[in-house]
Amino acid sequence: MSKVHVMDHPLIQHKLTLIRNKETGAKEFRELVEEVALLMAYEVYRDLPLEETEVDTPIGKASCKVIAGKKLGIIPILRAGLGMVDGMIKLIPAAKVGHIGIYRDPETLQPVEYYCKLPTDIHERDLIVVDPMLATGGSASAAIDFLKQRGAKGIKLVCLIAAPEGIERVQKDHDDVDIFVAAVDERLNDHGYIVPGLGDAGDRLFGTK
Ligand code: PRP
Ligand code: URA
Repeated sequence: MSKVHVMDHPLIQHKLTLIRNKETGAKEFRELVEEVALLMAYEVYRDLPLEETEVDTPIGKASCKVIAGKKLGIIPILRAGLGMVDGMIKLIPAAKVGHIGIYRDPETLQPVEYYCKLPTDIHERDLIVVDPMLATGGSASAAIDFLKQRGAKGIKLVCLIAAPEGIERVQKDHDDVDIFVAAVDERLNDHGYIVPGLGDAGDRLFGTK
């Protein structure tokens, strides 16, 4: 069974409260999502392997550590996942970014794929799939399927808010994929929105609707 990590760091929780607030406008919403994504990346990449190196400081030689050249990839699910990319890239500038376009059919709530552009070597990279919302789990599960069909192996899922239903779905479909979230909310409403959630993440990020 994959693990669920709920990130309870005070900075993440404080910013998530601001993100949830319906009075928060698109500019601030975007900035906060980027900041929380950066903070989440800090935790998600906690187990990156290190190797020894040596540098000359102005005073003498220092034995130090650097990240051991691991190939990384960040895969946002369009649209809303885009809001999390810049924060993560700030921490891991060498990561490559692949895009998967999926929207949820508003009637059936089933994921519909419409775009995909991935780094050619995704099978060699440790990937994190990012999307602010894990609701029914259909979109995330489909995106992970898509990556696995193309040879990807080490995949993690990073979301701001999850519903219990979404976590259950991803764990059932992909028991090798650990899930990182800032909060697990109560439930889904009749339209498949997370309660209390933050509303429609794509619309709030991009000012649509
Ligand atoms: C939202 C969200 C997720 C999906 C979650 O995207 O960003 O991708 O819904 O729902 P699920 O877990 O039930 O699949 P949406 O379909 O609204 O598309 P958008 O990002 O283009 O607005
Ligand atoms: N997509 C969103 O943007 N918000 C939800 O609550 C559920 C799906």
